[in-house]
Amino acid sequence: MRIDVATLFPEMCERVMSESIIGRARRRGHIEFCAHQIRDYTLNRQKQVDDYPYGGGHGMIMQAQPIYDCCQDVIRQVEQAGHARPHVVFLTAAGQPWNEEHCKRLATYDSLLLVCGHYEGIDERVIEALADEEISIGDYVLTGGELAALVVADSVFRLCPGVLSSPEGYEEESYYSGLLEYPQYSRPEEWNGRSVPPVLLSGHHENIAKWRKEQALERTRSRRPDLYREYQKKVNGENS
Ligand code: ADE
Repeated sequence: MRIDVATLFPEMCERVMSESIIGRARRRGHIEFCAHQIRDYTLNRQKQVDDYPYGGGHGMIMQAQPIYDCCQDVIRQVEQAGHARPHVVFLTAAGQPWNEEHCKRLATYDSLLLVCGHYEGIDERVIEALADEEISIGDYVLTGGELAALVVADSVFRLCPGVLSSPEGYEEESYYSGLLEYPQYSRPEEWNGRSVPPVLLSGHHENIAKWRKEQALERTRSRRPDLYREYQKKVNGENS
């Protein structure tokens, strides 16, 4: 899979996506990531990308033209490199809330183009012209879409083949199954007067799996009743 990002801060995105698991997967050629500078597509000498909002109000608005020209150029580059036309996602606080279902769905595309706003917003006309969808990573306002784009890229990339060392890795994780993850422990067996639950030391795989499932259910019920209700609906639907 290939993900491109259109942003005013390509170095920041490139830096984050060069570290750790994602960086290694890129170096091994399992995934491709490329960040593009929107400012390179301005038509004015000052390379200004924002202007005042029509109708008044505070802050500045990102103008349509540089974003549009940047995205058209990226789409052309992606297609020329042999990929499908990218699915275009704008990161905005007004988008659909991001969750694991969106991750799984976006991971099925061959190519994504993530577009980051900055300042107080983006001229709506370029969103209308280009966006296949708008995503928000939560009910709070960021100073820009970059952190949101990195969250989306990271969580989609980790579902791609070759990124995680054990392919079953993500199926066990929180949210993938619709439940929060059970608690995990590593060595030593006792730390600061706290012991590892004995069942995990028993070597009895069936009992361990049963304990983990109970813990996942109980955690989800007490911490996230909304997820728990969804999970019950799914399980009851499958069994009826
Ligand atoms: N840009 C500003 N706030 C955002 C949010 N919560 N999610 C995605 N993009 C944003």
